[in-house]
Amino acid sequence: MVIRGTSQVLGVFGDPVAHSLSPAMHAQFAETTGANTVYVPFHVREGHLKTALSALPSLGIRGVNVTVPHKEAALDLVNTLEPAARAIGAVNTVTNDRDQLVGDNTDARGFLADLWASFPDQTWPQRPALVLGSGGAARAVIYALRQEGLPAIRVANRTQAKARALVGEMCPPMGESLDLSPSRLDTALADVGLIVNTTSLGMRGETLEALDLGRAPADAVVYDLIYNPAETPLLAAARARGLATANGLGMLVCQGAISYEIWTGLQPAVEPVIHALEKAKQT
Ligand code: ATR
Repeated sequence: MVIRGTSQVLGVFGDPVAHSLSPAMHAQFAETTGANTVYVPFHVREGHLKTALSALPSLGIRGVNVTVPHKEAALDLVNTLEPAARAIGAVNTVTNDRDQLVGDNTDARGFLADLWASFPDQTWPQRPALVLGSGGAARAVIYALRQEGLPAIRVANRTQAKARALVGEMCPPMGESLDLSPSRLDTALADVGLIVNTTSLGMRGETLEALDLGRAPADAVVYDLIYNPAETPLLAAARARGLATANGLGMLVCQGAISYEIWTGLQPAVEPVIHALEKAKQT
């Protein structure tokens, strides 16, 4: 990559930011599209987001991704909010549009793009979905699934009150909330087409014992937002049951590609980047 006087500057604001995969990913987007962009990791600590964002117009930076811990704080620090960011309650993409900051969220679109790419010929859009978790990632997934017009979205969470509040806000009247008890999960699984894990369970080998995938239809598909490890115990159990699976690496790349398109107008190919990141993780 060569930085020139004409390079368009992009980046990510986060804390921590050192381990972000985004700089490598966006370098590949620049390479494959031939665009003259550079993507810089900025270590922006809590309390510094306002100053950092307000500097974008002065510095002529075209756009930044916003990550932990700034995604919610950014909502109040942009000039306009796109509907997805407002509904999800978090900003992950800020664009400097002629000195006006526009806040957007590309997680839901990234999730949907990868879901369709992973399971193109499945019946999941016609059947209920089971979403595990009720945090920020669940909000993006629920927002995405609402766009697809699924007949029902069942949200299961350890703290059921959070699931109930989330369903009440984001998906009445086709939403249902439940806790993680085996009997409730068994019932919820009986006719699902899609199971999505948005919890952190599985990052360190944890399993959700109460979830018996044997209760799900044989053609249900399982998506885990976790991509490290590449196969969580949930995905291993799904594969053992013969269900189609996908992890969250594709979503990560797709949400980044959508941010890149917002900033540059160019659509980078995602497949080679997904494969490169998979290989990089193995070495
Ligand atoms: P994110 O923004 O990535 O979604 P989050 O907002 O902290 O992260 O949400 C984490 C989700 O994982 C929550 O749904 C949480 O359940 P609670 O709402 O009951 O806290 C879920 N989670 C985390 N650890 C869990 C565990 N050990 N068992 C079950 N659920 C867990």
